[in-house]
Order: sequence, then C-alpha cells, then structure tokens
Amino acid sequence: MQKLKEEIGQAIAPLVGLESTKVIDLLEIPPDPTYGDLAFPCYNLAKIRKQPPPVIAKDLGSKLAGQEGYYWEKAVPKGPYINFHINPRTYGRELIRQVWEEEQDYGKTNLGNGDNVTIDYSSPNIAKPFGVGHIRSTVIGHSLYLLYKALGYNSIGINHLGDWGTQFGKLIVAFKRWGEESRLEEDPVDYLYQLYVQFHHQAEEDPSLDDEARSWFQRLENGDETAVSYWKRFRQLSLETYASIYGLLGIQFEYYHGESHYNQMLDRVINIVKEKGIANESEGALMIDLEPYGLPPVMLRKKDGATLYITRDLAAAIYRYETFNFARSLYVVGAEQTLHFQQLFKVLELLGFEWVSNCVHVPFGMIRFKEGRMSTRAGKIILLEEVLQRAVEMAREIIEQKNPDLEDKEGAAKAVGLGAVRFGDLSNDRVKNIEFDWEKVLDFSGETAAYIQYAHARICSIIRKAGSDFLTWDDDVVSRLEKEEEITLVKTLALLPEKVIDSAESYRPSVLARYLIDVAREFNRFYHNCPVLGSEPEIKHCRLLLINSTRQVIANGLGLLGITAPEEM
Ligand code: ARG
Repeated sequence: MQKLKEEIGQAIAPLVGLESTKVIDLLEIPPDPTYGDLAFPCYNLAKIRKQPPPVIAKDLGSKLAGQEGYYWEKAVPKGPYINFHINPRTYGRELIRQVWEEEQDYGKTNLGNGDNVTIDYSSPNIAKPFGVGHIRSTVIGHSLYLLYKALGYNSIGINHLGDWGTQFGKLIVAFKRWGEESRLEEDPVDYLYQLYVQFHHQAEEDPSLDDEARSWFQRLENGDETAVSYWKRFRQLSLETYASIYGLLGIQFEYYHGESHYNQMLDRVINIVKEKGIANESEGALMIDLEPYGLPPVMLRKKDGATLYITRDLAAAIYRYETFNFARSLYVVGAEQTLHFQQLFKVLELLGFEWVSNCVHVPFGMIRFKEGRMSTRAGKIILLEEVLQRAVEMAREIIEQKNPDLEDKEGAAKAVGLGAVRFGDLSNDRVKNIEFDWEKVLDFSGETAAYIQYAHARICSIIRKAGSDFLTWDDDVVSRLEKEEEITLVKTLALLPEKVIDSAESYRPSVLARYLIDVAREFNRFYHNCPVLGSEPEIKHCRLLLINSTRQVIANGLGLLGITAPEEM
C-alpha cells in the first residue's frame, strides 16, 4: 500500500540523508514474509558511510527501536536489511476502508494523465474467417486496452483490418464466375473464404485466372466503380459478421481503420522515404536496405506500382502519431510478425521519427486446441465464434449439474464460458505457445476463471445470508483483524493497484491473472479456517467487511481481463 511506503520513507529519510521518494523506490518485498512486510536495503549507503550494510542496518534498527508508525508497528534489522512489520489493525482497517470507498475504482491510478495510448489489436483479415490465431490478439489486446484505461491513459482501440491487397482481385474474379447471391447473404465470411479456396484450386489449372485477378485489383486501386462496389460489399458483410463476435465479447473499437484507410497517404510516405534518401529504386521497385542493421531489406513498392503490407503500416504509424500524439503505440500481433515490426520500427527510426521509441510490438505465441471434445471441423479452421459458443454450452452443462436451481443460468453460463476462454489464454505467459484444453479451462478447482468466479459467488452468497445490516462501516469493528489468514488476505488485497501497473507496463495480463488466483486461494484458506456467519457479531461484522473487499478486488481484477463475475453460479 502506497501510504505505508510513504510513511516508511519519511521515517528513514532523515536517518540516512536520502529523499523519501528515493527511499520508497529502494523498498523491497522480503523473500520470506516472516522477515517483515517491506525491507529497506542498506547497500546503497555502504559507500557513503564507509560501513558494511549489516552495520548500517543494525544502527538504523537501534534508532527506530521502540518507534512505530500509523501503519507499521516495528522495524527489525536482518543482515543488510531493515525490515518493517505492518500493524495489522490499522493497515487492515485502512485497506478495507480504501476498497470500501473506492469500490469499482479500487486498483486504478492516474499515472497516464489522460495521455493517448493506441492499441492495434484483433485486426482480422476481411473475407477470411476469424480464426483462432486472432483470438489471442483480441483477448490480450482488449485486456491491455482496459489496463491502460485503469492507469489513467486514454486507450484508443484500433482494428487494423486486413482489408486491402491482391486477394480482393481474386475474390472479385471468383464471385463473378461462381458466386451465388443467396449464399453470400447467408454466411458471407464463410462463403467468401470458400470462394477464395476455390479460386486457388482453379488457378492451379488455369493460370490466366491470376492475370485476371491482378487486373481486377489494379482496377480496384484505380478506384474503378465496379471493383470498388464489390470490395465495399465484401468488407461490409465481413464487418457485420465480426460485429457479432465483438458484441458477444463486449468489445468496442474506437476505430476500424483497416489497411485501406491509408491508401490516400501512401504517396506521401513514399515521398518522405525518397527525400530522406534511405531507399533505392530499380525498375520502379522501391527498396530500403537494412543490412547494416542485420535485417532483411524492405520493399515499399513493387515494379507494377503495388504497395505492400509494410507500406501501409508505415503510413499507419505516422498517421497515428500525427492524429493522436500517442504516449505509446502498441501492436498486439503474433510473434510470427516480429521481423515485420523490427523492420517497420527501424525504417521509422531511419526517417528520424523519435517517437518510434514509444512504439511496441506485443507478440504472443500460438494457440492450439487439444483434440477431444471440440474437434476441428473440415478445412482446418476453428472459428472463434464456435469456440465461444462451445465454451458457453459446456459451462451451461456444468452449472446445470452443480446448481440446478440457479435462477440466471444463462447469464452464469455466459460469464463462465467466455471467462474460461479468456482466462485460459490470459493466464499463460504471453510469449509461450499455449495448448487449449477444454477440461482444464473449465475446471472449477484448477487455476481458472471459474475458480476465481466461484470464490466471488461464494462471497456474494455469504453476504446475502448475513443480510445487509452487516454491510455498514464501523471503524472499531474493522480493526479486529488478527488471525494470520485474515492478515494475509488483507496483504494480498492490497497488491491490486501495483499488479495492475505491472501488468500494463510489462504488457502481461498474466501478472494480473495469476494474482487473482492468489486472491481466490487466500480467500479459500481464510474461509476454511475462519468462520464468518458462525462467529460472534463483531467478528462476523469485521469478516464480512473483509470478504466484501475481497469480492470487490476479484470483480475489479477480472473486469480488467474482460471477464465478468456473476453473483451466483
Ligand atoms: N491483419 C494482420 C494479420 O492478420 C494483422 C495486422 C496487425 N496490425 C498491423 N498494424 N500490422 O496478420
């Protein structure tokens, strides 16, 4: 808790001749909680004082002997450290008070000062099914979006749709030749994908199809009316399909700026590059040599004048800076595009854009679905929508068994099912490949969303049983924390704000996800050892306030992962 740190900073600063903010920066969490709750290391002082750190620690210990602060009750030297022990009564009370007062805002800070952070995430390719590869970008990106908001930044979600490129020439040819209106209306994305696959099969036998497709794409790039109207239609129909997935997940983007959005800006980008003299032209193709930086060359324009994915990304980066003046610009895109982003950022650097140091590629590994109950359908693509529906269905079955009398089964199934998919992704180290195992992600006693949601629902049920009379603030009552399990739970709850900061700063929602497992585990341990409803009135009241803040921490934390916590399940 920040206030505890400030107090320790003020206690030590005059003794060691450092600013208290410096002292706060140096504070560490001891490796073993029995040593204390926060430790000040004395290494830094050794040079100035010309004394070994343990001697300094002892000296500080004797100066602080018998003293206490509001939040800490004693300071004990151990080796090169001086360890502070919290006062569980005041510390516990103030923490519970803070959660009580801040409610859904507990965990938020204002580090961001309203600065803009752009988050490029999800970004599926038009006319292709929204495959599992895009699940991770969607889920991780959305959590980062929420986390940066919680840090006081203005998060700007951008869906960089793959809505431009030669494939649209192919689709136009395929649809003109074989397309059926009714099938397009029925299931546009799936059908367009089938046409795309069919095109490739046929083109193997008849290469003239490729020429035809190229010429249609050229017509599209030149703004030909017929070509544009096909493209618009394909794009619009795809967007409608994606909208239902985003709706299910509760995701909204500030901008659907796909690749096509940057078409008008490409000439300008090419001119900037030429003026800087970093490119070489040969027979109309424009290349940037990145060999001195150990990277493969970048092609910005082909001989036939066509631009590429990276050309549009260059334009997009510049556009984002000019439009949003971002403090940070995140790209939540799979690790297989690492090289692409290295090249992109290097070119921006060569162009002299200093802001590139605030551009970050947030990569992630692959996701694989374990064979079993959800078999891959023909075509080798598992659709995200199917995954989500399947998860909700399975959650429904489990809930039906566990709690047949539940009133809002549908709501709970949705929360648990979607939570399982999200948490199954977010709780893993982002850069690792993950194997998605249905049994595991829906296991109520494993390291899952359901486990955490269940702790939340359990708390809600205890509070309901106690009746609302007990949910009133009482300074005296809430100072009665003393059991080890109570105090450990309080200390765990106090960590939410720093876990949120850590998750956002390291772009790892897994930090928060793992922390929430700890919270649920500490709650269960507490509940196992400390009766709530069966205790005498004051203790009962105190513990109800404690579990009420636990409920709030879980709800706020899961919320930042995009997961809801039902009151009953
Ligand atoms: N549409 C691309 C793909 O599916 C991802 C785009 C990522 N964002 C970007 N600015 N390149 O591979």
